[in-house]
Amino acid sequence: MAAMLISLLTFTLFTLFFLCIQVSVSATVLTLYNKCAHPVWPGIQPSAGKPLLARGGFKLPPNKAHTLRLPALWSGRFWGRHGCSFDATGRGRCATGDCGGSLFCNGIGGTPPATLAEITLGQEQDFYDVSLVDGYNLAISITPSRGSGKCSYAGCVSDLNLMCPVGLQVRSKDNRSVMACKSACFAFNSPRYCCTGSFGNPQSCKPTAYSRIFKTACPKAYSYAYDDPTSIATCTRGNYLVTFCPHHR
Ligand SMILES: *[C@@H]1O[C@H](CO)[C@@H](O)[C@H](O)[C@H]1NC(C)=O
Repeated sequence: MAAMLISLLTFTLFTLFFLCIQVSVSATVLTLYNKCAHPVWPGIQPSAGKPLLARGGFKLPPNKAHTLRLPALWSGRFWGRHGCSFDATGRGRCATGDCGGSLFCNGIGGTPPATLAEITLGQEQDFYDVSLVDGYNLAISITPSRGSGKCSYAGCVSDLNLMCPVGLQVRSKDNRSVMACKSACFAFNSPRYCCTGSFGNPQSCKPTAYSRIFKTACPKAYSYAYDDPTSIATCTRGNYLVTFCPHHR
């Protein structure tokens, strides 16, 4: 009788153990990694109706990684804030990518210009891209692992701040460096650059001299609202590594 109980218990434990492995294997793991020489405060904004992760923001020192488990069918965007200072309660501000003056973005997006890593988990396929539609502040790449399908690299590795046209530059307080590069839409707020009004479709909203500068510097990133849809990558059941300053050192 005791032997039977023990073997039943062992069986149950084994079953639970394998169920746990199954569950952890099927969850999507997204790792944020900071290769910049300076700290980055990642911001996370879930799409409408999707759960908030890590309260929407935290500090990531150089050469540190932070791993998140994304719930099934989650979608949202990640960006990097830099030059931040917060008090003990998490109030403060960032030089770029600030989200309402809080360490925890709590659903609020980053103030443009900010490079965005966008991801949508699907039943069959995940979609992801790096977007410069809201401008650029830091280099970001997305590299998938484990998945099947194309699972291509997405990102903007070049330092666009060094190539930013004068009219789009956001300069540091001392005016010595370019901290971020606005999108032409944000800088000039015109239908032609924003693909709004009569330009609100892919036939009439074409690349501009400005979006071409972005595209040339970052061919694997989304440079304007109706950029070539091939800028969106797909992967089935991948895990994702989002790296800030991927080419640093
Ligand atoms: C800041 O620097 C830029 C580039 O050197 C220069 O064109 C601009 O006039 C400067 N602005 C101010 C306010 O000094």
